[in-house]
Amino acid sequence: MLISGKLGLRNALENNYALPAFNYTNLEGIKAIIEAAEEMNSPVIIQVTQGAIDYAGFEYLRDLGTGAAARSKVPVVLHLDHGKDYNYLLKAFRYGWTSLMMDASHESFENNVNIVKEVVKMASPLDVAVEAELGVIGGKEDDLEVDEAIYTEVNEAIEFAKQSNCDSLAIAVGTAHGIYKGEVKINYDRIEEIKKASGIPLVLHGSSGVPDEMVTKAVKSGINKVNFDTELKLANLAALNKFLTENPGVYDVRKIYKPCIEAMKEVVKAKIRACGSENKS
Ligand code: G3H
Ligand code: 13P
Ligand code: ZN
Ligand code: NA
Repeated sequence: MLISGKLGLRNALENNYALPAFNYTNLEGIKAIIEAAEEMNSPVIIQVTQGAIDYAGFEYLRDLGTGAAARSKVPVVLHLDHGKDYNYLLKAFRYGWTSLMMDASHESFENNVNIVKEVVKMASPLDVAVEAELGVIGGKEDDLEVDEAIYTEVNEAIEFAKQSNCDSLAIAVGTAHGIYKGEVKINYDRIEEIKKASGIPLVLHGSSGVPDEMVTKAVKSGINKVNFDTELKLANLAALNKFLTENPGVYDVRKIYKPCIEAMKEVVKAKIRACGSENKS
Protein backbone atom coordinates (compact mmCIF):
# COMPACT_ATOMS: atom_id res chain seq x y z
CA MET A 1 0.00 0.00 0.00
CA LEU A 2 1.03 3.62 -0.48
CA ILE A 3 2.20 5.11 2.81
CA SER A 4 3.25 8.53 4.00
CA GLY A 5 6.93 9.29 3.75
CA LYS A 6 6.85 10.52 7.34
CA LEU A 7 5.51 7.17 8.55
CA GLY A 8 8.10 5.23 6.54
CA LEU A 9 10.95 7.28 8.00
CA ARG A 10 9.59 7.04 11.54
CA ASN A 11 9.48 3.24 11.33
CA ALA A 12 13.02 3.12 9.96
CA LEU A 13 14.32 5.50 12.63
CA GLU A 14 12.68 3.63 15.50
CA ASN A 15 13.82 0.22 14.29
CA ASN A 16 17.35 1.17 13.17
CA TYR A 17 17.17 0.23 9.51
CA ALA A 18 17.20 2.21 6.27
CA LEU A 19 14.47 2.45 3.68
CA PRO A 20 15.98 1.40 0.36
CA ALA A 21 15.05 3.94 -2.32
CA PHE A 22 15.18 3.00 -6.00
CA ASN A 23 14.73 5.17 -9.07
CA TYR A 24 12.31 4.08 -11.79
CA THR A 25 11.58 5.32 -15.30
CA ASN A 26 9.47 2.56 -16.78
CA LEU A 27 7.31 -0.52 -16.21
CA GLU A 28 10.21 -2.98 -16.10
CA GLY A 29 11.97 -0.98 -13.41
CA ILE A 30 8.91 -0.61 -11.21
CA LYS A 31 8.05 -4.31 -11.53
CA ALA A 32 11.55 -5.30 -10.48
CA ILE A 33 11.50 -3.02 -7.43
CA ILE A 34 8.03 -3.98 -6.19
CA GLU A 35 8.36 -7.72 -6.83
CA ALA A 36 11.72 -7.86 -5.05
CA ALA A 37 10.41 -5.84 -2.10
CA GLU A 38 7.41 -8.16 -1.81
CA GLU A 39 9.58 -11.26 -1.95
CA MET A 40 11.79 -9.80 0.79
CA ASN A 41 8.87 -8.45 2.81
CA SER A 42 10.52 -5.03 2.87
CA PRO A 43 9.13 -1.51 2.87
CA VAL A 44 10.47 0.42 -0.10
CA ILE A 45 10.75 3.89 -1.60
CA ILE A 46 10.15 4.29 -5.33
CA GLN A 47 11.42 7.56 -6.69
CA VAL A 48 11.65 9.60 -9.86
CA THR A 49 13.92 12.46 -10.85
CA GLN A 50 12.94 15.47 -12.91
CA GLY A 51 14.89 13.83 -15.73
CA ALA A 52 12.77 10.69 -15.46
CA ILE A 53 9.63 12.83 -15.54
CA ASP A 54 10.85 14.65 -18.65
CA TYR A 55 11.52 11.28 -20.28
CA ALA A 56 8.36 9.35 -19.39
CA GLY A 57 5.83 12.05 -18.56
CA PHE A 58 4.51 13.01 -15.14
CA GLU A 59 1.15 11.28 -15.53
CA TYR A 60 2.62 7.98 -16.73
CA LEU A 61 5.05 7.87 -13.79
CA ARG A 62 2.28 8.81 -11.37
CA ASP A 63 0.01 6.07 -12.68
CA LEU A 64 2.83 3.51 -12.61
CA GLY A 65 3.93 4.52 -9.12
CA THR A 66 0.55 4.90 -7.41
CA GLY A 67 -0.83 1.85 -9.22
CA ALA A 68 2.06 -0.34 -8.14
CA ALA A 69 1.92 0.99 -4.58
CA ALA A 70 -1.83 0.42 -4.26
CA ARG A 71 -1.48 -3.21 -5.37
CA SER A 72 1.64 -3.97 -3.39
CA LYS A 73 1.68 -6.15 -0.27
CA VAL A 74 4.45 -4.03 1.26
CA PRO A 75 4.45 -0.36 2.32
CA VAL A 76 5.57 1.89 -0.54
CA VAL A 77 6.60 5.56 -0.36
CA LEU A 78 6.36 7.54 -3.60
CA HIS A 79 9.19 10.08 -3.62
CA LEU A 80 10.44 12.89 -5.85
CA ASP A 81 14.24 12.58 -6.04
CA HIS A 82 16.37 15.76 -6.38
CA GLY A 83 13.42 18.08 -6.96
CA LYS A 84 14.96 21.43 -7.81
CA ASP A 85 12.24 23.20 -9.73
CA TYR A 86 9.27 24.24 -7.59
CA ASN A 87 6.86 23.41 -10.42
CA TYR A 88 7.83 19.73 -10.24
CA LEU A 89 7.41 19.69 -6.46
CA LEU A 90 4.02 21.32 -6.63
CA LYS A 91 2.78 18.93 -9.29
CA ALA A 92 4.10 15.86 -7.49
CA PHE A 93 2.43 17.08 -4.30
CA ARG A 94 -0.88 17.55 -6.10
CA TYR A 95 -0.53 14.18 -7.84
CA GLY A 96 -0.25 12.26 -4.58
CA TRP A 97 3.48 11.83 -4.01
CA THR A 98 4.00 11.07 -0.30
CA SER A 99 7.56 12.35 -0.09
CA LEU A 100 9.39 15.23 -1.79
CA MET A 101 13.05 16.14 -1.99
CA MET A 102 13.78 19.84 -2.26
CA ASP A 103 17.40 19.88 -3.33
CA ALA A 104 18.61 23.42 -2.86
CA SER A 105 22.09 22.27 -1.81
CA HIS A 106 23.64 24.45 -4.54
CA GLU A 107 22.23 27.55 -2.80
CA SER A 108 23.66 29.40 0.21
CA PHE A 109 22.84 27.91 3.63
CA GLU A 110 20.28 30.63 4.29
CA ASN A 111 18.55 30.28 0.92
CA ASN A 112 18.55 26.50 1.26
CA VAL A 113 16.81 26.78 4.65
CA ASN A 114 14.22 29.23 3.35
CA ILE A 115 13.43 27.25 0.20
CA VAL A 116 13.02 24.00 2.16
CA LYS A 117 10.93 25.74 4.84
CA GLU A 118 8.39 26.81 2.21
CA VAL A 119 8.02 23.24 0.93
CA VAL A 120 7.64 21.92 4.49
CA LYS A 121 4.89 24.46 5.11
CA MET A 122 2.98 23.08 2.14
CA ALA A 123 3.70 19.37 2.58
CA SER A 124 3.74 18.74 6.31
CA PRO A 125 0.00 19.25 7.04
CA LEU A 126 -0.75 16.45 4.57
CA ASP A 127 1.86 14.15 6.10
CA VAL A 128 4.11 14.40 3.04
CA ALA A 129 7.78 14.10 4.03
CA VAL A 130 10.37 16.62 2.86
CA GLU A 131 13.99 15.64 2.26
CA ALA A 132 16.64 18.34 2.01
CA GLU A 133 20.34 18.20 1.10
CA LEU A 134 23.25 19.90 2.78
CA GLY A 135 26.80 19.74 1.47
CA VAL A 136 27.96 18.72 -2.00
CA ILE A 137 27.60 15.05 -2.98
CA GLY A 138 30.13 14.07 -5.64
CA GLY A 139 29.64 12.50 -9.05
CA LYS A 140 27.22 12.86 -11.87
CA GLU A 141 23.77 14.05 -10.98
CA ASP A 142 21.50 15.14 -13.80
CA ASP A 143 23.70 17.43 -15.89
CA LEU A 144 25.81 18.52 -12.99
CA GLU A 145 29.33 17.12 -12.58
CA VAL A 146 30.76 17.61 -9.11
CA ASP A 147 34.46 16.83 -8.80
CA GLU A 148 35.13 17.56 -5.19
CA ALA A 149 32.52 16.69 -2.60
CA ILE A 150 32.20 18.98 0.37
CA TYR A 151 31.41 17.06 3.55
CA THR A 152 28.42 18.22 5.53
CA GLU A 153 29.44 20.05 8.71
CA VAL A 154 27.94 18.78 11.98
CA ASN A 155 26.98 22.19 13.34
CA GLU A 156 25.46 23.26 10.05
CA ALA A 157 23.39 20.08 9.87
CA ILE A 158 21.99 20.64 13.38
CA GLU A 159 21.12 24.25 12.57
CA PHE A 160 19.67 23.29 9.21
CA ALA A 161 17.40 20.61 10.63
CA LYS A 162 16.21 22.94 13.38
CA GLN A 163 15.54 25.91 11.11
CA SER A 164 14.06 24.16 8.09
CA ASN A 165 11.98 21.51 9.89
CA CYS A 166 12.78 19.01 7.13
CA ASP A 167 11.90 15.34 7.75
CA SER A 168 15.17 13.91 6.48
CA LEU A 169 18.55 15.24 5.45
CA ALA A 170 20.83 14.05 2.66
CA ILE A 171 24.44 14.53 3.73
CA ALA A 172 27.76 14.48 1.93
CA VAL A 173 30.00 11.89 3.61
CA GLY A 174 32.06 10.56 0.72
CA THR A 175 29.62 8.89 -1.66
CA ALA A 176 29.12 10.05 -5.25
CA HIS A 177 26.40 9.67 -7.85
CA GLY A 178 27.08 7.22 -10.66
CA ILE A 179 30.08 4.94 -11.04
CA TYR A 180 33.13 5.31 -8.78
CA LYS A 181 36.48 5.89 -10.42
CA GLY A 182 38.52 4.99 -7.33
CA GLU A 183 37.93 3.36 -3.98
CA VAL A 184 34.83 4.43 -2.04
CA LYS A 185 35.51 6.09 1.30
CA ILE A 186 32.71 6.86 3.72
CA ASN A 187 33.10 9.08 6.76
CA TYR A 188 31.10 6.94 9.22
CA ASP A 189 32.12 9.12 12.17
CA ARG A 190 30.56 12.11 10.47
CA ILE A 191 27.31 10.20 9.98
CA GLU A 192 27.28 9.25 13.66
CA GLU A 193 28.08 12.75 14.85
CA ILE A 194 25.37 14.35 12.73
CA LYS A 195 22.82 11.71 13.72
CA LYS A 196 23.59 11.96 17.43
CA ALA A 197 23.43 15.73 17.41
CA SER A 198 20.36 16.19 15.22
CA GLY A 199 18.33 13.00 15.74
CA ILE A 200 16.99 13.43 12.21
CA PRO A 201 16.75 10.58 9.65
CA LEU A 202 19.79 10.87 7.36
CA VAL A 203 19.92 9.99 3.67
CA LEU A 204 22.80 8.43 1.73
CA HIS A 205 22.90 9.33 -1.97
CA GLY A 206 25.12 7.87 -4.67
CA SER A 207 24.97 4.38 -3.16
CA SER A 208 25.48 2.40 -6.37
CA GLY A 209 29.02 1.10 -6.37
CA VAL A 210 29.22 1.12 -2.58
CA PRO A 211 29.95 -2.43 -1.34
CA ASP A 212 27.01 -3.90 0.61
CA GLU A 213 29.01 -4.15 3.86
CA MET A 214 29.76 -0.43 3.65
CA VAL A 215 26.10 0.38 3.13
CA THR A 216 25.26 -1.71 6.20
CA LYS A 217 27.92 0.08 8.23
CA ALA A 218 26.54 3.47 7.11
CA VAL A 219 23.05 2.36 8.17
CA LYS A 220 24.38 1.28 11.57
CA SER A 221 26.01 4.70 11.87
CA GLY A 222 22.65 6.42 11.45
CA ILE A 223 21.46 6.41 7.82
CA ASN A 224 17.69 5.80 7.41
CA LYS A 225 17.28 6.08 3.60
CA VAL A 226 19.67 4.84 0.93
CA ASN A 227 19.37 5.85 -2.74
CA PHE A 228 20.21 3.45 -5.56
CA ASP A 229 19.92 4.24 -9.25
CA THR A 230 22.96 3.48 -11.43
CA GLU A 231 23.33 -0.19 -10.40
CA LEU A 232 19.78 -0.90 -11.58
CA LYS A 233 20.56 0.71 -14.92
CA LEU A 234 23.78 -1.30 -15.24
CA ALA A 235 22.10 -4.62 -14.37
CA ASN A 236 19.35 -3.88 -16.87
CA LEU A 237 21.85 -3.09 -19.61
CA ALA A 238 24.08 -6.10 -18.91
CA ALA A 239 21.08 -8.47 -19.06
CA LEU A 240 19.90 -6.83 -22.26
CA ASN A 241 23.31 -7.15 -23.92
CA LYS A 242 23.65 -10.76 -22.82
CA PHE A 243 20.21 -11.74 -24.08
CA LEU A 244 20.63 -10.04 -27.44
CA THR A 245 24.06 -11.59 -27.95
CA GLU A 246 22.83 -15.07 -27.06
CA ASN A 247 19.50 -14.80 -28.89
CA PRO A 248 19.96 -13.02 -32.18
CA GLY A 249 16.73 -12.73 -34.11
CA VAL A 250 14.39 -12.54 -31.12
CA TYR A 251 12.17 -9.52 -31.61
CA ASP A 252 9.48 -10.09 -28.99
CA VAL A 253 10.36 -7.39 -26.47
CA ARG A 254 8.60 -9.27 -23.69
CA LYS A 255 11.11 -12.10 -24.04
CA ILE A 256 13.95 -9.60 -24.22
CA TYR A 257 12.99 -7.62 -21.10
CA LYS A 258 12.17 -10.58 -18.87
CA PRO A 259 15.80 -11.29 -17.93
CA CYS A 260 16.31 -7.54 -17.47
CA ILE A 261 13.60 -7.46 -14.81
CA GLU A 262 15.14 -10.53 -13.15
CA ALA A 263 18.60 -8.92 -13.11
CA MET A 264 17.24 -5.73 -11.55
CA LYS A 265 15.34 -7.77 -8.96
CA GLU A 266 18.57 -9.38 -7.81
CA VAL A 267 20.17 -5.97 -7.29
CA VAL A 268 17.13 -4.72 -5.35
CA LYS A 269 17.20 -7.78 -3.08
CA ALA A 270 20.89 -7.37 -2.28
CA LYS A 271 20.35 -3.70 -1.44
CA ILE A 272 17.37 -4.52 0.79
CA ARG A 273 19.59 -6.92 2.72
CA ALA A 274 22.31 -4.28 3.02
CA CYS A 275 19.78 -1.74 4.36
CA GLY A 276 18.46 -4.16 6.98
CA SER A 277 14.87 -3.62 5.84
CA GLU A 278 14.07 -7.28 5.10
CA ASN A 279 10.98 -8.47 6.99
CA LYS A 280 10.31 -4.94 8.27
CA SER A 281 7.13 -4.34 6.25
O1 G3H B 1 20.67 11.51 -8.61
C1 G3H B 1 19.97 10.68 -9.14
C2 G3H B 1 20.28 9.96 -10.34
O2 G3H B 1 21.32 9.05 -10.22
C3 G3H B 1 20.38 10.82 -11.57
O3 G3H B 1 19.36 10.32 -12.34
O4 G3H B 1 19.60 10.82 -14.71
O5 G3H B 1 17.37 10.45 -13.69
O6 G3H B 1 18.59 12.55 -13.21
P1 G3H B 1 18.70 11.09 -13.58
P1 13P C 1 23.57 6.15 -7.65
O1 13P C 1 23.20 6.32 -9.08
O2 13P C 1 25.04 6.27 -7.40
O3 13P C 1 22.97 4.94 -7.07
O4 13P C 1 22.88 7.40 -6.87
C1 13P C 1 21.49 7.42 -6.77
C2 13P C 1 20.99 8.63 -6.07
O5 13P C 1 21.59 9.19 -5.18
C3 13P C 1 19.66 9.13 -6.46
O6 13P C 1 19.32 10.29 -5.80
ZN1 ZN D 1 20.97 11.54 -5.32
NA1 NA E 1 27.35 5.88 -6.87
